[in-house]
Amino acid sequence: MAVRIEPSILSADFTAFAADIARIPSADLVHCDVMDNHFVPNLTFGLPMVQRLARVSALPLDVHLMIDDPDRWAAGYAEAGAETVTFHAEASPSPVATARAIRAAGARAGLALKPATAAEPYLPLLDEFDQVLVMTVEPGFGGQSFLEPMLDKVRRVRAAIGDRDVRLQVDGGIGAETIAAAAQAGADAFVAGSAVFGEDDPDAAVQRLRALAEG
Ligand code: DX5
Ligand code: ZN
Repeated sequence: MAVRIEPSILSADFTAFAADIARIPSADLVHCDVMDNHFVPNLTFGLPMVQRLARVSALPLDVHLMIDDPDRWAAGYAEAGAETVTFHAEASPSPVATARAIRAAGARAGLALKPATAAEPYLPLLDEFDQVLVMTVEPGFGGQSFLEPMLDKVRRVRAAIGDRDVRLQVDGGIGAETIAAAAQAGADAFVAGSAVFGEDDPDAAVQRLRALAEG
């Protein structure tokens, strides 16, 4: 299983995203946390920022929508050039319809599960998705501690994915102490904010995390 290291610019310098993205050439893509202060109690940036980042980033973009009403916005992020657009299961009245709109607009579709959200109701829908994001902290803020009990959810989602071409992404508290356990449980895409941009040499951090995930 190819390991993907996906730094989150939530922990980068908000006045210098382009420069910070240029500091992580070893990363597989850039994870962009879009928060609306409604779905989560924090506010980051929206579509105009992602449209601009798509033009200046040498790496593909992975957009994590932590917003109400993803149907209003998701296709726009795909049209902006995001490789993957992930929305939260609870935020959409019809996750299948939202996923189809994302794919029709040219991006891969991702389904995010908050820590308290069971995976099982969504497992029959896996053919509609290219990625499942198992949140390993409560969404909203960087720098929180990894929620160990989420490893069991990762295992169950991995078993359900089987031989489908669906990535299993983990996000929250991923760092040198936690990434190997997440990889062993079946994750193959690792979002890391503070463990990358909180380091003096973020690219060295990406390489270290990759080595630990590859075991
Ligand atoms: C949290 C965001 C994460 C955040 C992770 O809601 O979805 O992407 O950047 O930050 P760390 O890696 O510091 O836990
Ligand atoms: Zn995220």
